[in-house]
Amino acid sequence: MAPATNLSSVEVTERERALEEEVRALSERIAEVEAQAAAKEQQLQRYAADLRETFKEERARSAQLRASYITTVRALANAVEARDAYTGKHAERVAAYGLELAGRLGSSLADDPEIEFGFLLHDIGKVAVPDAILYKPEPLTDAERTLMERHTVIGVQILRGVDFLGEAKAVVRSHHERWDGGGYPDGLHGEEIPLAARVFAVADTLDALTTDRPYRPASPLSRARTIIGSLAGTQFDPEVAQAFGEVADDDLDEIRTEIR
Ligand SMILES: [Fe+2]
Repeated sequence: MAPATNLSSVEVTERERALEEEVRALSERIAEVEAQAAAKEQQLQRYAADLRETFKEERARSAQLRASYITTVRALANAVEARDAYTGKHAERVAAYGLELAGRLGSSLADDPEIEFGFLLHDIGKVAVPDAILYKPEPLTDAERTLMERHTVIGVQILRGVDFLGEAKAVVRSHHERWDGGGYPDGLHGEEIPLAARVFAVADTLDALTTDRPYRPASPLSRARTIIGSLAGTQFDPEVAQAFGEVADDDLDEIRTEIR
């Protein structure tokens, strides 16, 4: 049997010292790595805070820009309507009805600022229609009607160079198209008509029916609902007319009383 190896006490002490040294070096290394990680985390947190701040500023700037666009477009729409004393804030109400309807359709139109611009500026081409035709109480002659109907294409010509309006121009051009193809200026049928213009058509009729005109008083909302429902599939997109049927009276009343 081999004799047991006995370490001398000097050897034991040396080994312990070496181990202690190793542990100390490792602890130092761990502390160093931890410090580096903490510094990196702090740096990342600073970056994240900077990014959040930049994002907030960007969002505020873009909201500001959108607000000035809207103010400018509203001013322009009001200038067009100033000729027509009885419609009040027709364009603003129609825009609000249109956005309500678009939201009900679950369409992304409701979040598209260009669509609101289109709703507001739909009749901008009427600046080119003489008062004698615009306010003629008697029925228009064929030539006068042709001139009146040109307000859609003239509107697009007026807005031609304004890039930020984008899709708004489709509403300006196509807001008098009919689902059955009997509208103007292009005689588009059904889904050939841009959705925003189909939504607009219902909103426009709703506002026309529920506001006083020199030749007739405003209809109650229930009557407007019946009329619009009866024109689904001929003048109006049936889906849009149905979505309109689902908007609560209170939501429509609120728009009518707030924008006048
Ligand atoms: Fe129009």
